Amino acid sequence: MAGSAIGLGNIWRFPYLVGQNGGAAFVIVYILACIVLALPIFFAESIIGRRGRGNTFGAMKKLAPGTRWKWVGLLTVLTPVILLGYYSVVGGWSVDYLWKACTGAFANDPRGLFGGFISKTWEPIIMHTIFMALTALVILLGVKNGIEKFSKVAMPLLFVLIVAIAVYGMTLPGSFKGVEYLVKPDFSKLGPGSIAAAMGQAFFSMSLGVGTILTYASYSPENESMLDSGIGTAVSDLMFALLAGFAVMPAVFSAGIAPGEGPGLVFDTLPFIFNQMHSVVGAAVSILFFLTVLVAALTSSISLLEVGVAYLSEEKGMSRRRSTVILALITWAIGIVCSLSFGPLSGVKVIGLSFFDLLDKLCSNVLMPLGGLLFVIFVGWKMSKADVRDEFTSGGRRNTRIFGLVYFLIRYVAPIGIVIVGLTALI
Ligand code: PFF
Repeated sequence: MAGSAIGLGNIWRFPYLVGQNGGAAFVIVYILACIVLALPIFFAESIIGRRGRGNTFGAMKKLAPGTRWKWVGLLTVLTPVILLGYYSVVGGWSVDYLWKACTGAFANDPRGLFGGFISKTWEPIIMHTIFMALTALVILLGVKNGIEKFSKVAMPLLFVLIVAIAVYGMTLPGSFKGVEYLVKPDFSKLGPGSIAAAMGQAFFSMSLGVGTILTYASYSPENESMLDSGIGTAVSDLMFALLAGFAVMPAVFSAGIAPGEGPGLVFDTLPFIFNQMHSVVGAAVSILFFLTVLVAALTSSISLLEVGVAYLSEEKGMSRRRSTVILALITWAIGIVCSLSFGPLSGVKVIGLSFFDLLDKLCSNVLMPLGGLLFVIFVGWKMSKADVRDEFTSGGRRNTRIFGLVYFLIRYVAPIGIVIVGLTALI
């Protein structure tokens, strides 16, 4: 679950959203959203997955037979396919940057590197294809255990690297403004759109509302502490995001990059930092950094594909191999259009957004909150309290004292919170 949660959302998405939404005030709202809205959804998904012992559709069907709830399961099978469509494009960018790091591209003046890459037609598509192929291969070859073991080494390494980059970034001239930007809140910069963005990012980062946590929970043993999984995932996820913020923002200010520039922020800023380092150190750090980011991205992308693979193989009797190939091809095709929307298709806008931005907003601001809302309503209002308690406390053996608070959060706080934030953003 932590492997799914920690990924490009922390390193790529969080820093640029902070930049677009005015800094520290956004960070505070984000942390609040993680605790009050995201954690209850995490528990709700875990309860449904473990109790229903199946994919999103199957688990709902089992827990509420003969009702329409199973269609919620189907909705959450569709969302990850869309999400992976553009996630894999960014995954492709990290493949490209690993390649650039290996070939010493950051040693020369790295300004304009990202803009030059992203506006091209073929290069980003080829990189996206490599990333999608890697994702499918991990599932097809059944090396999930392998990648899990690998990521147990890669994640601590990534953690150390981000801390080192953050510390180094803060020594650069003019970087103090970036630190200030992250710790000194200015709430006047926070619109209702920012609050919705913070909520969406909390769901995106913790992999919620799309059935990933539900599916993974369906594979987890009954006596595992749900509280520990939830807090463990949330804390590690949050730490990675905050550290990425501190690795990026000081350097943004030092380099004179606009904090609100959008999805390219990290890819513009990090090469600048590597370029400032001693050449051998810069080369080594950049290679290790993009390699570990790639591992983090892969452990997230396989979890996105897994939701649909579990559905097709458990409900439709399709082999896992066939399900993987079909879903990978669909997401690959979606990704191609997303990738082109930075280059040849950049002029094509739907409601003022490029195709990439449209899918990103659709997933994180609409589909994920909607999925999350339906999951908490299901657990808080449809399932019996006795069943919920039994599952959360592993049959009364664990976390019994905290159950009352968790149930209150699931039944009232999370659904009301999501609706209020959603409505405010709409208005
Ligand atoms: N949480 C992942 C990240 O932060 O990169 C992205 C993600 C994975 C979102 C799986 C949703 C999901 F189901």
